[in-house]
Amino acid sequence: MIKVSIIGAGTMGTGIAQIAATKGHQVCLYDTFDGAVENSKLKLNKILNRLVEKERISKDEKENILSRINFTQDIKDVKQSGLIIEAIIEDLEIKKKIFKELENLVDKECIIASNTSSLSIASIGGACQRAERVLGIHFFNPAPLMPLVEIIPAVQTSKETLKNAKLIIDSWGKTTVLTKDTPGFIVNRVARPFYGEAIRIYEEGIADFATIDWAIKELGGFKMGPFELMDYIGNDINYTVTETVFKAFYYDTRYKPSFTQKRMMEAGYLGRKSERGYYDYSIDMPKPIKNRELGKRILWRILSMLINEAADALFLNIASKEDIDLAMTKGVNYPKGLLIWADEIGINNVLNVLKDLQEEYGEDRYRPSPLLRRMVKENKSFY
Ligand SMILES: NC(=O)c1ccc[n+]([C@@H]2O[C@H](COP(=O)([O-])OP(=O)(O)OC[C@H]3O[C@@H](n4cnc5c(N)ncnc54)[C@H](O)[C@@H]3O)[C@@H](O)[C@H]2O)c1
Repeated sequence: MIKVSIIGAGTMGTGIAQIAATKGHQVCLYDTFDGAVENSKLKLNKILNRLVEKERISKDEKENILSRINFTQDIKDVKQSGLIIEAIIEDLEIKKKIFKELENLVDKECIIASNTSSLSIASIGGACQRAERVLGIHFFNPAPLMPLVEIIPAVQTSKETLKNAKLIIDSWGKTTVLTKDTPGFIVNRVARPFYGEAIRIYEEGIADFATIDWAIKELGGFKMGPFELMDYIGNDINYTVTETVFKAFYYDTRYKPSFTQKRMMEAGYLGRKSERGYYDYSIDMPKPIKNRELGKRILWRILSMLINEAADALFLNIASKEDIDLAMTKGVNYPKGLLIWADEIGINNVLNVLKDLQEEYGEDRYRPSPLLRRMVKENKSFY
């Protein structure tokens, strides 16, 4: 079994190290900052203790998992790895620098991957002499629990690297989807309207946070409403992803961030972690207005925007229809794949909602994907 090294012992690095060690790999978990690996070890110990309490693993298994991980501040310990997954700070220049350094420490067969959420894999790979062994392997938080992993070959990535990386991640019991090296990959691109359109509906004064969340959960079957979810993710993190995707798409207005969320972030209303976000968690939650007609309008508007985004990703060959649907159900727990959902509710109905919105607002953000128009014209369905 190959040795796996993880660079960066933060939230994601610790989670990925837990998966690899649980699957029996020798793991090197490296971080440069004082206290980071110690913290990571404490956190992992706590998580594993909980798994022992719940009888998911035995005490011996827990000890074995921990004993397989070398928590280190010496980057040379990555030597002899078959796979390295980088999960450090989201900064292109710092990532490039570390990729250059890593490349000189391992054999030419070693795959070097980045867990970046938003940076281009081609640019990270560009820092390496042998960019054909570089690709994106994007886990979701919390990594040990979320089944989805996006696999992202860059233009430089070899077929062999892609095949071998996928084999390893599949062997860890993850659901892998293949996606093009474009901003947000699948999930962080297709999910944008879930947040953005919900905020827009609030900004227009159509409904409050609680009512929008209620509509999405009660009528749409989503586990969490957009505002609850943004508070859970953190308004700082969610806003940054939106802004990064917007800039990366050359300021396509479809991805335009909102002032509402920016102000939340600036005010320090980050969500659950700061006790206050869209909701104030120190007082009782506000009650939604349970008006089904209003709820349906909210759901249809957000859902049509999501389906449009999924259809456009398919139109531009970002991923297969199956992988787009899998990504949204396994990466962000949507109740159904968006494209199969479109078939069920009728693509013409989705197109009509989008056309109406575009006509009413005259904004490019509502432009329907050419694929939806084409499918309606040809009377086709996704499946
Ligand atoms: N948190 C998420 O929800 C999430 C989900 C998917 C992907 N990601 C991506 O994963 C990466 C890590 O995110 P995170 O949330 O785990 O961050 P984090 O801040 O929890 O952890 C980053 C770790 O990297 C270390 N680090 C920073 N610079 C370093 C360097 N030069 N060398 C070695 N270690 C260094 C830090 O000490 C820290 O421990 C980012 O690229 C992020 O975009 C995050």
